Amino acid sequence: MLPRLLLAALPFLGLALAQDGSLSGPTTSADAAGYSCDPSKCKLPSCNCASTDPPGGLSPEDVPQFLVFTADDAIQSYTLDSVNQFLAHRKNPNGCPIKMTYYTSLNFTNYTLVTDWYVAGNEIADHTMTHVGTPSADEVNGNLIALNALAGIPLADIKGFRAPFLNYSVDTLKLLAKSGFTYDSSASASLPVTDSGTDAYWPYTLDNGMANDCLAVPGLCKGEPKLPGFWEVPMYATFDTRGVAGVHLMDPWLDTADSNNAVNDTATLNFLKSTFTAHYSAKRQPFGLYTHPIHLSTTYPGVNAPKSTISMINNFLDWAQNQQNVWIVSTEQLLAWVQNPVPVSQLDQFAPLKCSTPQVDQKICNGMPSNEEGLLDHCAFSDFPFYTCYGCPSVEPSPGNPNPSQSTDNGHQARFRLPSNCSTPFWDPINGKCICTSDTCAFQDDSRPIGPNGANLTGGGTGSDTSAEASQSSNPYVPFNGNGAISMSTAAWPALFFSVMAVLVGAFSVIAHS
Ligand SMILES: *[C@@H]1O[C@H](CO)[C@@H](O)[C@H](O)[C@H]1NC(C)=O
Ligand SMILES: *[C@@H]1O[C@H](CO)[C@@H](O)[C@H](O)[C@H]1NC(C)=O
Ligand SMILES: *[C@@H]1O[C@H](CO)[C@@H](O)[C@H](O)[C@H]1NC(C)=O
Ligand SMILES: *[C@@H]1O[C@H](CO)[C@@H](O)[C@H](O)[C@H]1NC(C)=O
Ligand SMILES: *[C@@H]1O[C@H](CO)[C@@H](O)[C@H](O)[C@H]1NC(C)=O
Ligand SMILES: *[C@@H]1O[C@H](CO)[C@@H](O)[C@H](O)[C@H]1NC(C)=O
Ligand SMILES: [Zn+2]
Repeated sequence: MLPRLLLAALPFLGLALAQDGSLSGPTTSADAAGYSCDPSKCKLPSCNCASTDPPGGLSPEDVPQFLVFTADDAIQSYTLDSVNQFLAHRKNPNGCPIKMTYYTSLNFTNYTLVTDWYVAGNEIADHTMTHVGTPSADEVNGNLIALNALAGIPLADIKGFRAPFLNYSVDTLKLLAKSGFTYDSSASASLPVTDSGTDAYWPYTLDNGMANDCLAVPGLCKGEPKLPGFWEVPMYATFDTRGVAGVHLMDPWLDTADSNNAVNDTATLNFLKSTFTAHYSAKRQPFGLYTHPIHLSTTYPGVNAPKSTISMINNFLDWAQNQQNVWIVSTEQLLAWVQNPVPVSQLDQFAPLKCSTPQVDQKICNGMPSNEEGLLDHCAFSDFPFYTCYGCPSVEPSPGNPNPSQSTDNGHQARFRLPSNCSTPFWDPINGKCICTSDTCAFQDDSRPIGPNGANLTGGGTGSDTSAEASQSSNPYVPFNGNGAISMSTAAWPALFFSVMAVLVGAFSVIAHS
């Protein structure tokens, strides 16, 4: 399944194993689900029935086609470089940089990069501390505590969970609801949207139990578990020419498709497109790209991801973004829309899709690389050294001790951890001071008002310059409001982003409320 090279590299990174997210067939059926839900009693925003129809009774042409981009496992320079190859140069139809969800596990994570990624507007979610299936409460909650203490992520903003190996149980879901998570995204929708019994439901609450994975997880479905207000965001599989027998879930580019006996990027591109079109042209259930970015790294020593695969994925995204009303989003953005499903014509007023930049030019350690030079602490643990703004722990965090006391070796002054009333980019952990009071906290809104063509927005083609297909979409970003805001040549565009943005990607856009 995985190239030998990757398998060899993985143990050192503590990252995905081959079975981390593979599917071999349907994981549910209508019968097994035994699901019933009364939409007159279960109403948004706090309740939503499992349904293939868009939320809020909207008709599909009024619904954005969301493409959810997620990554799993440790956050390291290599994995962010990898994600940046696909997202750094793209924008959504409102001119905002793309945001994604990173299901983060602790081992091998470089905490300062978690801070940077979050301050840039991305979603940080939980994937356990040491990457275990059917995790204990300590594995799940310890990760929250460590991400809060060492990366300065507000607890309130860690809303989602994905189980390592997608291996969860009824108890996992109960534990998540009890720990105050908003959603789980470990279940699969494993039947094509074109099948009459498809399980490609829009995200739904577990007020009436689960409707996915009923054949795969004991004790699930037939109304269980009932967790009012807790959401499941299914992972939507893709299907090659064999239909339900040719199912692909995570890292579909590592799979062989059709009846081939080797990975074939053309075949992968074909099934990504055909599945996307099946969603887009019918009920517009979200489409997902669920990645383990290390597999596509070009910077991790020893991993040489095929350039052809990287450019195939960019071709796919270019193609998708050239279609109207396609938005690449994080899971929290998707969920915010499902909870409050405004039609595409009103997306200009929709705050969760906007972008804004914290205006911080003081040299404080705040998740903005331009400010924090020389201010990071280096925690030189032998298993996995990392950097942080918030002070090194005296021992490595673990599920039993997720927030060890801070080391003050060599007279190092202890850092102040993020308080609950200050937002990350405005917190100075060295002086223990919030520079964002009601008067001084400044954001700049960078999203663009939606023009008169409101219902028909595209993000424009962007991406790779390496294929004939990409070069057809010569303008890298066509702002929907028709002002030719981008004057850079097509050739300069990728060069700029791959060099500069690979380091600084989106470090300057933040959701105003976070
Ligand atoms: C960890 O982060 C520091 C600071 O950004 C960076 O210099 C270093 O290369 C990173 N290392 C890894 C493996 O991510
Ligand atoms: C994760 O790190 C801890 C602490 O170093 C270690 O005990 C554990 O074996 C690691 N687990 C994996 C899966 O690498
Ligand atoms: C799921 O996790 C449990 C507990 O860690 C383990 O016993 C089981 O083998 C795992 N199953 C799969 C399919 O990974
Ligand atoms: C790769 O897949 C494409 C599309 O299915 C097919 O036309 C081509 O022959 C395949 N290439 C190889 C080497 O199998
Ligand atoms: C935040 O809370 C701390 C401690 O409760 C308090 O001293 C501080 O004034 C508060 N800061 C703001 C900006 O509200
Ligand atoms: C959107 O595009 C469709 C198809 O091109 C067209 O029929 C429709 O009039 C357009 N709507 C708006 C508001 O421009
Ligand atoms: Zn994982």
